[in-house]
Amino acid sequence: MTVKESYDPASHYDRVMAAWQLLLGDELHYGVFDDGDEPLDVATRALTERMVAAADLQTSGHLRVLDVGCGSGAPARTIAGRFGVEVVGITTSAVGVETARRRTAEAGVDGVTFEQRDGTANGFDDASFDRVWVMESAHLMRDKDALVSECARVLRPGGRLVLCDLVRWREIAFREVRERRDDFAVLREAFGDAHFESLDGFGALARGHGLVVDRGDDLTAATLPTFDRWRANADAHHDAVVELIGTAGRDAFVRSCDILEAFWRDGTFGYGLVSATRPGGSTS
Ligand SMILES: C[S@@+](CC[C@H](N)C(=O)[O-])C[C@H]1O[C@@H](n2cnc3c(N)ncnc32)[C@H](O)[C@@H]1O
Repeated sequence: MTVKESYDPASHYDRVMAAWQLLLGDELHYGVFDDGDEPLDVATRALTERMVAAADLQTSGHLRVLDVGCGSGAPARTIAGRFGVEVVGITTSAVGVETARRRTAEAGVDGVTFEQRDGTANGFDDASFDRVWVMESAHLMRDKDALVSECARVLRPGGRLVLCDLVRWREIAFREVRERRDDFAVLREAFGDAHFESLDGFGALARGHGLVVDRGDDLTAATLPTFDRWRANADAHHDAVVELIGTAGRDAFVRSCDILEAFWRDGTFGYGLVSATRPGGSTS
């Protein structure tokens, strides 16, 4: 099935990149909240910290990290700046590559490069990375098997895959999709063409490609306050967001927060993190 061009993740991210900065912040992902009162940027950094811990970046020796779906490059800059690792960030969005390169140059962070490539066919050599970091981009790739296959292929023996994303906690029958088609249309309008995998499904895909899964965290409750913060940003930056993505785009974003929050609460969708190691070799 072809996807309407504006819903295709590459064109979608070309279109929303600047507005997302106002709505989501510098890090284009959910936040993990301890007590629910923290500002959004503290919570988004906390999710990055979860990924850092799972990735095991504090090893001796030079690590090469592939960041699949790098957004504006904020997580890549964080890990390169803190751990001195080399990061190659990839995204299908041309605007994303340009934005990530510009912000990284402005921040003066070394060791980070960005390229326009697809995570489901990345084109890198086999066994050429020590870590593969997939932060909230998997839902934008229909072919999850191809994504995980590519991640496993480019990992060196002993290397680690870390992935966090929106997840599906239950099967959704076609009848339910049909009954709720207006809600799903709003979600597609706001976030582009997206397909959620289950946490177990990600684990099974990793095992299927020869990786040993060691973590599967349910972050649904911890990410729930994100929707309140996003709605608050949509209010605080109302005029600027309308200027960038129009009234319909802003309204779809706010309505999407309501729809997703209800899905989070009723156990349909949520958030998860998985990590896995490619057997053989050492971890660094
Ligand atoms: C929600 S953003 C996450 C950005 C970043 N990982 C972060 O956490 O700040 C999703 C990213 O995935 C990228 N993306 C979507 N489909 C992709 C694909 N097939 N291959 C690579 N990147 C993709 C988008 O362009 C965007 O940069």
